[in-house]
Amino acid sequence: MKPLNDLGFVHIFVPADEPASPTLLLLHGTGGNEQDLLPLGRELWPGAALLGLRGKVLENGMPRFFRRFGEGVFDVEDLKARTNELAEFIDTAAEHYAISKRHLIAVGYSNGANIAASLILLHPHYLRAAVLFRAQIPFTPDLARSFTGLSVFIGAGIQDQIVPRDQTEQLAAILEGGGADISLFWHRGGHELGDDDVSAAKTWLAETMRKRLAA
Ligand code: MLT
Repeated sequence: MKPLNDLGFVHIFVPADEPASPTLLLLHGTGGNEQDLLPLGRELWPGAALLGLRGKVLENGMPRFFRRFGEGVFDVEDLKARTNELAEFIDTAAEHYAISKRHLIAVGYSNGANIAASLILLHPHYLRAAVLFRAQIPFTPDLARSFTGLSVFIGAGIQDQIVPRDQTEQLAAILEGGGADISLFWHRGGHELGDDDVSAAKTWLAETMRKRLAA
């Protein structure tokens, strides 16, 4: 499967095994690419369609989804503009690949989880669900929004040196306050992805999201 530089992002699309399966929108961490999270996507929901993206910003040659001034200090203006580009991509890709947004689940790690969180805050109804590994609150939203109907799994690291615990809790509280259904899992280690949270996310998708998507 070859990546395409089309529809506004370098991306790769792997069709689902069955038409009723969801599409996982895969958003990598700093230095990753559109292929990085394909194995994670296959593990989380075998047979789902996979849409892997490459972030357009380069930081010392490493792809990211938006600019930052330093570790954890985001260029919010750039983040919001890139989030709008991502929303446009989703619209175009949904039409091009016949993807239903009601069956679109973002899976993001670190920088990818942060732009997914930003997408939820700015455009709450672009996703049906999200799996956010090591996300922080990308910015404090100006308006209280409704996140009703949205399900979010947050995988956070107890010893994460990049995302402080209160950032995770604040993000969960904002989403929950707007009516999202939140599942917060604390991974034993730090910023790296662990088998424990991949397995917790997989169980959550199988036990919670399968039923919700079928309803
Ligand atoms: C970010 O810049 O999105 C976060 O600090 C995580 C990272 O990519 O290192």
